[in-house]
Amino acid sequence: MALHMVLVVLSLLPLLEAQNPEHANITIGTPITNETLTWLSGKWFFVGAAFRNPEYKQATQTTETEFFYLTPNLTNDTIELQESLTIDDQCVYNSTHLGFQRENGTLSKYVGGVQIFAHLIVLKKHGAFMLAFDLKDEKKRGLSLYTKKPDVPPELREVFQKAVKHVGMDESEIIFVDLKKDKCSQPQKQQLELEKESKKGP
Ligand SMILES: *[C@@H]1O[C@H](CO)[C@@H](O)[C@H](O)[C@H]1NC(C)=O
Ligand SMILES: *[C@@H]1O[C@H](CO)[C@@H](O)[C@H](O)[C@H]1NC(C)=O
Ligand SMILES: *[C@@H]1O[C@H](CO)[C@@H](O)[C@H](O)[C@H]1NC(C)=O
Ligand SMILES: *[C@@H]1O[C@H](CO)[C@@H](O)[C@H](O)[C@H]1NC(C)=O
Ligand SMILES: *[C@@H]1O[C@H](CO)[C@@H](O)[C@H](O)[C@H]1NC(C)=O
Ligand SMILES: *[C@@H]1O[C@H](CO)[C@@H](O)[C@H](O)[C@H]1NC(C)=O
Repeated sequence: MALHMVLVVLSLLPLLEAQNPEHANITIGTPITNETLTWLSGKWFFVGAAFRNPEYKQATQTTETEFFYLTPNLTNDTIELQESLTIDDQCVYNSTHLGFQRENGTLSKYVGGVQIFAHLIVLKKHGAFMLAFDLKDEKKRGLSLYTKKPDVPPELREVFQKAVKHVGMDESEIIFVDLKKDKCSQPQKQQLELEKESKKGP
């Protein structure tokens, strides 16, 4: 198990820079635990991504902003995903269920009848996570970043830029979203969110 994990990490990620020990903790294949799921629960902002897969790349280019709620169910191993996307200056809502594989730390989603996988990379300290797609495939690989807060501190941007380079892509491939384009957070909707938050309690 441990050896397998080491091999997976070595084969997928070029060696992480030794100079900054902080980045050495970005590894894939970390199992998903109940604790991870509880931490994932709640509201997230899509910050940016570097995608080589043309479909994902196009979707990122057309999505002006996106925030979403994750509601994991620890019993049936699904995560409800409720998305609010701004596309063409309009707010679009969407809802679906994600799957997850605890043992290899992946999330999965059915898209057009096909199950796609992404490795979850938790950046707990930064209140953020990344998803890694098809890292072995030079033409399809991708890395995306999500945060709990809409504002992204420069050091997190840097962590992401480095991670993108480490998986064999160029910084210039990153598309960051512009949250000022958000059309889903009208006052009334914000109110609804507040109610939702307050219902959860402290
Ligand atoms: C990296 O991981 C190790 C072992 O889990 C931990 O001791 C260390 O504090 C982590 N470094 C950072 C910067 O989070
Ligand atoms: C899992 O539970 C959620 C509610 O938390 C439900 O919406 C979903 O349909 C369930 N999925 C399966 C496969 O049972
Ligand atoms: C995770 O949580 C579920 C639901 O509460 C529980 O049935 C399961 O035993 C937990 N797993 C672990 C490893 O604690
Ligand atoms: C989680 O899924 C199980 C099985 O589908 C269901 O019985 C339970 O009500 C769900 N929990 C929540 C909190 O929705
Ligand atoms: C909404 O979700 C469905 C099912 O996952 C998907 O086919 C559709 O493309 C999504 N729409 C947007 C705008 O993302
Ligand atoms: C993760 O595990 C699931 C279930 O064992 C498997 O179907 C899937 O292919 C694995 N994904 C990756 C990326 O290894």
